[in-house]
Amino acid sequence: MWKQAIENAVLKTSANIDRYGGEMFPHVSVDGGIKYKLNPNTDWTDGFWTGMLWLCYEYTGDAKFRDAARANVESFRKRLDAKVAIDHHDIGFLYSLSSKAQWMVEKDEAAKALTLKAADHLLGRWRPKSQLIQAWGPEGHEQNGGRIIIDCLMNLPLLYWAYEKTGDEKYRDVATIHADKSRRFLVRGDDSSYHTFYFDQETGDAIHGGTHQGYRDGSTWTRGQAWGVYGFALSYRYTKDPLYLETSKRLARFFLKSLPADDVAYWDFDVPIEPGTPRDSSASAITACGILELLGHLEPNDPARAELQDGLERTMKSLVTNYSTIGDESVEGLLKHGSYHVRGNSSPDDFVIWGDYYYLEALMRLEKGHKGYWYE
Ligand code: GLY
Repeated sequence: MWKQAIENAVLKTSANIDRYGGEMFPHVSVDGGIKYKLNPNTDWTDGFWTGMLWLCYEYTGDAKFRDAARANVESFRKRLDAKVAIDHHDIGFLYSLSSKAQWMVEKDEAAKALTLKAADHLLGRWRPKSQLIQAWGPEGHEQNGGRIIIDCLMNLPLLYWAYEKTGDEKYRDVATIHADKSRRFLVRGDDSSYHTFYFDQETGDAIHGGTHQGYRDGSTWTRGQAWGVYGFALSYRYTKDPLYLETSKRLARFFLKSLPADDVAYWDFDVPIEPGTPRDSSASAITACGILELLGHLEPNDPARAELQDGLERTMKSLVTNYSTIGDESVEGLLKHGSYHVRGNSSPDDFVIWGDYYYLEALMRLEKGHKGYWYE
């Protein structure tokens, strides 16, 4: 099942290279359409396409994928040099899957240097007074200046990696202080999570939790929970702090136990379910990758192992059987029924490129033992 799904993804990705060329990047589809909206490397999502190209290259060895991925990395080099739309924390998503993946696949020194430069840029989001990485907006921004978001856990591996490559402790220290703060304030006592949390910019005092894309401030946005499952597992991978592993496991068990009958998440765990309530298949694909990462670190006799393994298999079988576009060659995307921002009516039931990426990463982990591009 996994092999067939990967081969279909490879075919679609090859056809999409012909559509997009080396400098345009798919983001989301709109109005339930079959085509991706493209941008010239100006969005937070653009690394996901490049990551798919590297995965397809590793699976096939076909230079078509490698050449397209290398062309993308050049585009990322220009983007960092010209500082185009990088005034946010998503530098880890952008550069882990583009230049760092190139470093991992080809041991290309220029790609490594570019990735370290990207890590330095991410460090520029560190706010010493409040001891956090500011997610969005300029320093001192009235609403967002002291705000963290759970998604940022997926950007921390870039900093851990930079520490390993340079020995400079500032990268590791910033990443661990931010991960600890995320664990303490974004994860709630019942193992659900806030999407975002606000702190006083001058004193660092905690103010309150909230949401951006969730149903309401105290609800659990499913993709946020997914970023937490995977992000804390990756913080464990680099630091070996058992609290991160425990937190990832708690978030994963909450995610699995809150799923509907077909094992794929709605867009928020607290939203009333009615006919037509949108799903977020990308949240389930991200969680599948997170559980695969987590299972790689848990002790063989960990009591949660069987439950996590079962949840992973159910999720992936449902994604391939009920949500994939296998057999429909007219569409560009791999995974139906993702959502970007349901409350904001932005692509509430669409293809989303990160859903396609994590779906393919999970398949490659299952079929080939791939470990993702978030380490090494
Ligand atoms: N990191 C932004 C999102 O998940 O929509």
